[in-house]
Amino acid sequence: MHLVITSDRSVTLLGMFHPQGPTLFELAVQAWSSTERGYDLLAPKFHYTPFCTPDEVIERTLQQVLGGADVDSALDICCGTGAGMCLLKPRCRSRLVGIDFSPGMLEVAEQFVGQAKGSPQLQFECADVLEMQFEGAFDLAVCFGALGHILPCDQDRFVERIRAALKPGGKFALVTSERPSVWSLRYWVARSFNGAMHVRNWLHHPPFVMFYLKFLLADATRLLQRHGFQVEVVDLGLEKPYAGLKVVVGSRPDQIEC
Ligand SMILES: C[S@@+](CC[C@H](N)C(=O)[O-])C[C@H]1O[C@@H](n2cnc3c(N)ncnc32)[C@H](O)[C@@H]1O
Repeated sequence: MHLVITSDRSVTLLGMFHPQGPTLFELAVQAWSSTERGYDLLAPKFHYTPFCTPDEVIERTLQQVLGGADVDSALDICCGTGAGMCLLKPRCRSRLVGIDFSPGMLEVAEQFVGQAKGSPQLQFECADVLEMQFEGAFDLAVCFGALGHILPCDQDRFVERIRAALKPGGKFALVTSERPSVWSLRYWVARSFNGAMHVRNWLHHPPFVMFYLKFLLADATRLLQRHGFQVEVVDLGLEKPYAGLKVVVGSRPDQIEC
């Protein structure tokens, strides 16, 4: 796969119409594929879509979670093309792992993260996050822009695997927002999208798993607490279009209950 990645990832919601982004037809073909295959197809143009988490959201999240501190080891869950890993790399002393089940996305991530500053040992793991087998390995785990890919029936397993991957005292950070009002356009756009995905998955297999309005603030907080995390919620304090985004930080307790 040949690609050239620039540092210009400043896309807006219309970013999918960025000259270097995918066409509507390409997006439709991708959505008709499985989730893994869809992302493989999207990978070379992913940085020019609005699905890639913007640097300012990632940077502010890391500031809120770490302050000025570094960590020894970190895990980027559903790392995609490495937007989170690039900004984690200079803050990570010894080991930085990205996990994703799309080989195409990981191929781009390897090139992109390789160029970022910092010198931890890098590892790119091609696997389903629901099957990840890390045990007590990381000081920090993050997940950006991918929570809609985790079905409600898999959420407990997802958080259980993350908790297992963290060292005692380690932190898991995710970005979310309050549930939008039922009177808002955002709510109905999201519900309509979810409805279309249900119909698509009913008509065609394998499914493309992507639903909005998942891991919203109250649900994510409860889910993490149910898995023994001590939870703190911080406003990211960003301006529009990211106003209202919150980071949910779950700390794994030092003591592991038996
Ligand atoms: C919207 S992209 C986000 C990528 C990156 N975190 C970012 O913010 O730019 C979602 C990523 O999650 C990955 N993904 C979705 N479900 C997954 C699963 N169950 N296991 C591993 N990766 C998954 C996809 O392959 C894709 O690369």
